[in-house]
Amino acid sequence: MNATTSVHVERLGKRFGDFVAVDAISFDIRAGEIWGFLGPNGSGKSTTIRMVCGVLEPSSGTADVLGFDVARDPEAVKLRIGYMSQGSTLWADLTVQEHLRFYAGLYGMQGSEREERIAAWMQRVGLGERRAQLAGSLPGGYRKRLALACTLLHSPQMIFLDEPTAGVDPVSRREFWDIIVGLADEGTTVMVTTHYLDEAEHCNQLAMIYNGKIVARGSPEELKHLPQIGTTVEVLSNDTVGVLDAIEHLPFVRGAGLYGSSLHISLSDAGEIESLNAAIAARGLSAGAAHSVLPSLEDVFSAVVQPQ
Ligand SMILES: Nc1ncnc2c1ncn2[C@@H]1O[C@H](COP(=O)(O)OP(=O)(O)OP(=O)(O)O)[C@@H](O)[C@H]1O
Ligand SMILES: [Mg+2]
Repeated sequence: MNATTSVHVERLGKRFGDFVAVDAISFDIRAGEIWGFLGPNGSGKSTTIRMVCGVLEPSSGTADVLGFDVARDPEAVKLRIGYMSQGSTLWADLTVQEHLRFYAGLYGMQGSEREERIAAWMQRVGLGERRAQLAGSLPGGYRKRLALACTLLHSPQMIFLDEPTAGVDPVSRREFWDIIVGLADEGTTVMVTTHYLDEAEHCNQLAMIYNGKIVARGSPEELKHLPQIGTTVEVLSNDTVGVLDAIEHLPFVRGAGLYGSSLHISLSDAGEIESLNAAIAARGLSAGAAHSVLPSLEDVFSAVVQPQ
C-alpha cells in the first residue's frame, strides 16, 4: 500500500452461517477517485462496505484503509472516514441544525468552530434555508443531503456512500452528484454504491459484484470494451416490443432490452448482424437495420451479471 492508495482489500470474505455473502474479493481504491460498486440486490455491496468501514467483522481477508488495518485499528479508520449507510437513519423530530450539532458533538467539535463548520456544510449541501426544519418533514432528496452533511462534518479523507441517492428524483440526484464530484475534485476519496447506471458514469473506476464475487472492473470506458460483452447493436423501430419478442429467443442473441426508444441487442460477434436483420424481416416487422453501438453500462451490467 502506498500514499496514492486509500483502500487495499485482499481476499475479504463474509459468511453468515453457511451462506457466503462476500467471497474473497480483492480491490484497491486510489486516493481522490470515485470508485463505484455495482451489483444486483443481495450481491454483497453493503456487507463489503461495512467490513471496510470497520463496523462488521470479516470472516476472512484484510482491509487497509488510509494506511490502517481495519481489524487492528478500527478507531483510527473511523476518525478519518465518513460512512453514509444504506437507508441511514435520521431522527424525525430533530431539526437539520440539531442533527449537525449532534454529529459535531460526536467528533468533539465545540463553540465557534462547531457553528462555522455546521453553517458551511449546510450551505454546501443546500440546506441553509432549511436549518430549522424537522428532518421528518424534509423531502427525500433533502434527507439524503442532511445524511451526507452529517457524514462530512469532520472533513474525512475518505467517504463511503451506500446508495446515497436511492429513491431520489432525477434533479436532486444530479445535484447530489455535483456535490460528490466536487468533493472528489478537492481530493476526497469516494466509494459509492448505486443502482442508477447513469450515475455510475461519474465514477473513475467501477467494480461489478455478483453473488459475492467481483465479475468485472475498470473505468466506465474500459467496461464498455470488455471482450465478454460481445457486439452490441441498436435497432430502431416503432414496434420495439414486437421486435424484442421476435428476437430474444434466437440462439445467437445473448441479451436484449429496451434502451430509450430503441432496442439494444447483445450478440456474440458482428457476423450475426445479418442473421438478426433477416430474422426481423422474416417476421414482417418494420425496423431499421441493426447497427453496432457502444454498449451502455446497463448492457455491460446485464452481460456480466447473467453469464451466458
Ligand atoms: N446479518 C446478516 N445475516 C444473514 N445474512 C445477511 C446478513 N446481512 C446480509 N446478509 C445477506 O448477505 C447477502 C448480501 O447482502 P448485502 O446487503 O451486502 O447486499 P447488497 O448488494 O448491499 O444488496 P442491496 O442492493 O439490496 O442493498 C444477502 O443475501 C443478504 O441477505
Ligand atoms: Mg446494500
